[in-house]
Amino acid sequence: MDAALPPNALAARRVLLIVSGGIAAYKAPDVVRRLRDAGAEVQVVMTPAAGAFITPLTLQAVSGREVRAELFDPAAEAAMGHIELARWADVILIAPATADFLARLRLGMANDLASAVCLASEAPILAAPAMNQQMWKHPATQDNLAALAARGVRFAGPGAGSQACGEVGPGRMLEATEICAATAALFERDLLSGVRVLLTAGPTREPIDPVRYISNHSSGKMGYAIATALREAGAIVTLVSGPTILPPPAGVTLVNVETARDMHEAVMARLPTDIFVATAAVADYRIDNAASNKIKRSDSALELKLVPNPDILKCVAASAAPPFTVGFAAETNDVERHARDKLERKAIDMVAANLVGGAGLGFNADDNELMVIWRDGSRLLPRAAKTRLARTLVDVIAERYAARAAR
Ligand SMILES: Cc1cc2nc3c(=O)[nH]c(=O)nc-3n(C[C@H](O)[C@H](O)[C@H](O)COP(=O)(O)O)c2cc1C
Repeated sequence: MDAALPPNALAARRVLLIVSGGIAAYKAPDVVRRLRDAGAEVQVVMTPAAGAFITPLTLQAVSGREVRAELFDPAAEAAMGHIELARWADVILIAPATADFLARLRLGMANDLASAVCLASEAPILAAPAMNQQMWKHPATQDNLAALAARGVRFAGPGAGSQACGEVGPGRMLEATEICAATAALFERDLLSGVRVLLTAGPTREPIDPVRYISNHSSGKMGYAIATALREAGAIVTLVSGPTILPPPAGVTLVNVETARDMHEAVMARLPTDIFVATAAVADYRIDNAASNKIKRSDSALELKLVPNPDILKCVAASAAPPFTVGFAAETNDVERHARDKLERKAIDMVAANLVGGAGLGFNADDNELMVIWRDGSRLLPRAAKTRLARTLVDVIAERYAARAAR
């Protein structure tokens, strides 16, 4: 398994990487680099012994964050203390994990920053052991591993082969790519295993003539993040996307379209589906009299006649076997009232409404806040990066989809 992960496989995931004091610490910068290539934020915490094998400066340079090593550091405690570090992490990755560190972890010790963070965190722990084969085979180590596994700690490796000490056997740390793949696999869930989801994202472009068009500020970021989150939840995802500059989400079937009519056609051709999520900012109108040749400049006024585009959401909700349908509403005021109105008018199952035009939220922004509304309930998903918010939204979609199926 040598391939790098797709660029968004760990998008916005917060990985707290503990580097403990073994020879394989020299591979830690590669682990950091590959985690970041896959979109993760990486905070490195070193054990005091790790400093004998690799410098904090190297890990700081590749992680882009200050490396932490001291438990009793007044300045660091005031900025992001050990408890905050523990809360910050989505996952704690220990690579390399020494025999000694695993023993401390098993005992629940907290005598350095790394072990204290492990004890204070609810995040899942993944350890990539690395040690001499005799240390690995020792009953003390094996006993520690069994106790940790029973407590939910996951392990990546070790591999077997020739070791730094000249011996041959089990105890080599896995390669960085394998450790990153195991980290990404921790986030795979089976909330929507095998469920077919059709999703639209991005803006549409309505041509005025062959070189000009009317469009909107939608970047597609929210839709693409939802597509990724749905895939992580086990869904079979088809994404019908208007023009964006975003990389295609991994493991998702992507269908590129330009106009609202193209999008309508692409969606209707892919029904039936189990869930439909309409995040695209579809143009309500198109130009009726779009010119087939470029319109030349003149001194007289130019009139464009706008005619309504098909209402994709309504068409899907009215189809023969309507899927569980989720619409998006971008509102500038009275979010909940407008969203409830949309829910009724379009006869859909759920509306995710956001306030656009606010500071740093909505179109084109990296953050968002959503008010999710269904017939007999609602939930506010507080401001977060779109990638994180997408995962929370998918949890709500899965919950309401299951509730509808149980009815
Ligand atoms: C040159 C050298 C290499 C070492 N390599 C490893 C190793 O690969 N794995 C291991 O478990 N311990 C190894 N050790 C022992 C650890 O450094 C030692 O147990 C230390 O206390 C680990 O501290 P930590 O777990 O807090 O990082 C090595 C020691 C030396 C001197």
